Amino acid sequence: MRNPRDFLQPQAIGAPDPLKEIPIKPSRMIHFFDPSNEKMLDKLPDIATKTDILLGNLEDAVPVDRKLPARAGLIKIGKEVDLGDTALWVRVNSLDSPWVLDDLTELVTEIGDKLEVIMVPKVEGAWDIHYVDRLLAQLEAKAGLERPILVHAILETAQGVTNVEEIAAASPRMQGMSFGPADLAASRRMKTTRVGGGHPGYRVVEDPNTDDPEAARPSFQQDLWHYSIGRMVDACAGNGILPFYGPFGDIGDDVGCEAQFRAAFLMGCVGTWSLHPRQIAIAKKVFSPDPDEVKWALKVIEAIPDGRGVHMIDGKMQDDATWKQCKVMVNLAEMLAKNDPELAEAYGLTPANA
Ligand code: GLV
Ligand code: MG
Repeated sequence: MRNPRDFLQPQAIGAPDPLKEIPIKPSRMIHFFDPSNEKMLDKLPDIATKTDILLGNLEDAVPVDRKLPARAGLIKIGKEVDLGDTALWVRVNSLDSPWVLDDLTELVTEIGDKLEVIMVPKVEGAWDIHYVDRLLAQLEAKAGLERPILVHAILETAQGVTNVEEIAAASPRMQGMSFGPADLAASRRMKTTRVGGGHPGYRVVEDPNTDDPEAARPSFQQDLWHYSIGRMVDACAGNGILPFYGPFGDIGDDVGCEAQFRAAFLMGCVGTWSLHPRQIAIAKKVFSPDPDEVKWALKVIEAIPDGRGVHMIDGKMQDDATWKQCKVMVNLAEMLAKNDPELAEAYGLTPANA
């Protein structure tokens, strides 16, 4: 086991020091694009103004014969396209694939100074993170990088869920985790064929009416993902890293998408993936706290400036714990309002106090 002092030492001579804290910045949506699509070069600067994070996808959904053009396309984008303040991430191919070694080597040595986070798919345990951790340090040293590249794991295998806590704690590079319902369903042998969302067959049914056994029995659809997202949120929060929901594949179902995103937001996720430009707007709406909730939280904090004792506000009991919840809400609102005058106005925050 590594000793605690060693944990914050670089893993290769000449690599940058690991970060003590994960940077907290607007991360409501990770918008996926295919860098093998040459038209992307022109479209990205505009998309960048609408999304918090842009991610060049090299893994699933990129056909085998487009793997190398996708990697080359992302390198070109990193070198030539100005994305302003929008973070550039990549999803590399999985660690058991023939492409990942060159993905990491070429991306870090060519555009390592532009990449904030590398998303690693199908992470099974801490050993996968340790492999990437050391390799990145060697490549960072070779490329002369001054800032460490962070790592984001996709939680999408049964073994990954089993080991979620050790994955979250595996390296100071761990920035966060995304929930991958499609691969997870396959790995668990779930009998579904969807990418996220609910399923009409997964429900609880009311008991029979003993006076009228033939009467219809109401039943309600349940959330297939609640347990695993809950484990991911706890593992991330417990290790100071950030949890995200992943893909919602039914692009035309805005209502289902919004419900899935909102469940993740309420449970503690900071953001989600967006697979289509229309999902960027849904993610923005859901992962920016509701203005009425923010105004309520501001009212509680104003009424109890030191966050101590018990108070009644509009008939609702407030104490240290509700005050802390209000702080979470207001801190997020203030961070988002800094770069968004419309949100600042909706929250009643001026850029000066945001
Ligand atoms: C994402 O990669 C998923 O498998 O859901
Ligand atoms: Mg997947």
